[in-house]
Amino acid sequence: MGKERMTVLLSDLEIARRVKELAAEISREYAGGKVTLVCVLKGAVVFASDLMRCLEIPVEIDFMAVSSYGSETKSSGAVRILKDLDSSILGKDLLIVEDIVDTGLTLDYICKNLLSRKPRSLKVVTLLDKPARRKVKFTPDFCGFEIPDHFVIGYGLDFNEDYRQLPGICILQPEP
Ligand code: PRP
Repeated sequence: MGKERMTVLLSDLEIARRVKELAAEISREYAGGKVTLVCVLKGAVVFASDLMRCLEIPVEIDFMAVSSYGSETKSSGAVRILKDLDSSILGKDLLIVEDIVDTGLTLDYICKNLLSRKPRSLKVVTLLDKPARRKVKFTPDFCGFEIPDHFVIGYGLDFNEDYRQLPGICILQPEP
């Protein structure tokens, strides 16, 4: 990509409002218990930190980093763990926190992997969902926004590691 053009898709205020709604929904779902958030690095770090501060229930957080083997093999679903969780999840109520579901391959792998470790329950919250790009059947339990198939950056999402610090979500398009 040479010169790029940025247009705002979701402002910081729109995101903040939706994060509060999601947190209320999640707090009701886990009322009376504790939830263990699994933040998938790096993109979800901004969403996870905002979400956890709006939750009204006891929370633990752990982090996981995964990588596909490369763009050519991404469609194969081959994913490798770069950083695993620090603690056992046996018997815990897990909520995976993602920034975006695209093909669904990453979450399909993570869910299967974590389920094999016998948590008590496993659900997924994603800020963004691009259902048009799905390669495997995957439906998040909680979703902030369904978005069309654009390349998006900001609020944790990157283009070649840049733009993660933008407060809102922007569409990045090559200059015509
Ligand atoms: C993004 C996102 C998800 C994954 C979704 O991560 O955070 O983990 O891609 O894509 P999929 O549904 O097609 O599998 P990315 O690989 O860009 O890493 P990053 O979070 O470190 O930026």
